[in-house]
Amino acid sequence: MKHVMLIAGAALAALVLAGAGAWHHHNHPDLDAPAPAAMDVLDKQGKVLGQHVLPSAQEIAGLSNAESVMLGRRLLNETARLLPDNVGNGLNCNSCHMAQGRFALRNHYINTGGNYPRYMPRPGKPIDLAERINGCFVRSMNGHKLAVDSAEMKGMLDYMHWLGQGMPQGSKVAGRTEGEIDQTLQPDPLRGEAIYAAQCASCHGNDGEGMKDQFNEYLFPPLWGDDSFNIGAGMARLYKAAAFVKYNMPLAVNQEPPFGQGELSDQEAVDVAYYFTQKPRPDFAGKANDWPRDKKPKDARY
Ligand code: HEC
Ligand code: HEC
Repeated sequence: MKHVMLIAGAALAALVLAGAGAWHHHNHPDLDAPAPAAMDVLDKQGKVLGQHVLPSAQEIAGLSNAESVMLGRRLLNETARLLPDNVGNGLNCNSCHMAQGRFALRNHYINTGGNYPRYMPRPGKPIDLAERINGCFVRSMNGHKLAVDSAEMKGMLDYMHWLGQGMPQGSKVAGRTEGEIDQTLQPDPLRGEAIYAAQCASCHGNDGEGMKDQFNEYLFPPLWGDDSFNIGAGMARLYKAAAFVKYNMPLAVNQEPPFGQGELSDQEAVDVAYYFTQKPRPDFAGKANDWPRDKKPKDARY
């Protein structure tokens, strides 16, 4: 605990030194900051079992499967460049699972290794983790499945298991994968368009096309169009997109004033999420097979 406090103290001092004096609640750690050193570990009833210390990247070199974990970590960062046959758009896994899945509210992977195999309503059957990863390849990445026995798949699996290493079976870290959003809110498309122009277009482009560097690689990922996620992706769903946007966007060094604009309200997040999720994007060929037994979520695109 003392260790944790020290780290929190150092982060606070760094913020104060950087002149960010006006913040009140700090939901948004800087992506370059170390991930939180320890998180509460809960059992199935929500009782705190202890703390999970997130392993640091420096420890990878000492692992018996170091090369595989390193490969997996790199693939999550540079997915489009390293796996062109499997990625059909301009995204990396990190575009949505930010900072290699180490932060609460940013689709973290800390519990992921222990989450599978399990029943999923979308396919209507139990799936293992490799299949779940391939779900993101064919939907979020609008691409093709990775061979489950490939070194690349093994690397991603090994990386995810390593993040949650040592946690008791059936336990989870308390940090949520996505933030809460009021799902009764109805979107206002015009307000969404105005928020997009004011707070998103500078990075994601006036037409959602993102922004590329001189090597033709994306600096800022696209939000709609051919190079975006397809309609079968979780991010194509209104409230999932709104939850991501509310706690993570607009990306800034520090989302709190004076550098950042502060976080969007639930209503603003729903408005802007409606605006970009409804824009044209690739179709998903397998959509007819989704939710064969369970009720389709109300914000599914099909
Ligand atoms: C466009 C955004 C986006 C991209 C890109 C993306 N994902 Fe996801 N992923 C999600 C969302 C949102 C979820 C949450 C599940 C849901 O409800 O659909 C998710 C869920 C997952 C899960 C399940 C986690 C768990 O603990 O149950 C895994 C594993 C995963 N993604 C891996 C990947 C990998 C690997 C890549 C890159 C090949 C990737 N994702 C690319 C948005 C994305
Ligand atoms: C300062 C630049 C910047 C601004 C402004 C910004 N974003 Fe982003 N956005 C990013 C970056 C960079 C990523 C990828 C995250 C990563 O790689 O860590 C991203 C990722 C995303 C993603 C998931 C990946 C994808 O392309 O689908 C969504 C959705 C998103 N942003 C929506 C928004 C919305 C909505 C706004 C306005 C409210 C916004 N962003 C403002 C830079 C920005």
